[in-house]
Amino acid sequence: MYCKGKPLYASTLFLVNLRSRTSWILRTDGKFHPSREISAYMQLTWLGHACVLLTGSKKILIDPFIESGSIVDTNPDIVAVTHGHEDHLGETVALGKKTIAITEIAKYLTAKGLPVEGINIGGTTIVDGVSFTMTPAVHSSWIEEAGIGCYGGTAAGFVIGMDGVKIYHAGDTALFSDMKLIGELYHPDVALLPIGGRYTMGTAEAMMAAHFIGAKTVIPIHYNTWDKIRADPLQFKKAIERTTDIRVKVLMPGESTEINNDP
Ligand code: NI
Ligand code: MN
Repeated sequence: MYCKGKPLYASTLFLVNLRSRTSWILRTDGKFHPSREISAYMQLTWLGHACVLLTGSKKILIDPFIESGSIVDTNPDIVAVTHGHEDHLGETVALGKKTIAITEIAKYLTAKGLPVEGINIGGTTIVDGVSFTMTPAVHSSWIEEAGIGCYGGTAAGFVIGMDGVKIYHAGDTALFSDMKLIGELYHPDVALLPIGGRYTMGTAEAMMAAHFIGAKTVIPIHYNTWDKIRADPLQFKKAIERTTDIRVKVLMPGESTEINNDP
């Protein structure tokens, strides 16, 4: 499976889901820990660019920008789309899954025959026990098909709550001070932030975004897919971790990490 423009490492896509309901849990350090140490967690896999898979009681795929015709091993229950640009809408239509999107994109996808839940900025919908809150993003949106474009509503992000863990996927966005509200209202456990610049925040703005949001973990996305969005994630990590308690997890495309709601 490939993210367009960037090879994925197939061998890392089939990680064992460490979720367990027994009284002992095998953690990523290879040791068993009593399950009471963790009240809730899920697995997060970065599939490259802005495409992220959340695996818990449901499989949620965000912004499925993946090679057309490739085997999508993810087989998501639900797809969430932040905006209409092709590097985010991606293979949403081909996947044909239950999809969460802003009302304008929802209309487009409904016309394509997909089962869609349309929402809008500031609203929340709960689908199959998973909550999707649509957050603002400072960006544009446009759906293009066969050289013809149509209005895609406004660009957005999501706070997704599943199994007691909350993920904030910022979508494509500039820095905006209301990210503080997203932190104060929803207390995400992890923030997925674009750092590639040019079309979104770069590393300097994303540092302030991380500070505003206050999630204990930040995962950089939307960088190094193309030359125009080059960024150094390790420099970003160093700069944040030198000055704050926030931890930055730099993932390889296809790599997974466990997200918990420990304070
Ligand atoms: Ni975009
Ligand atoms: Mn983009």
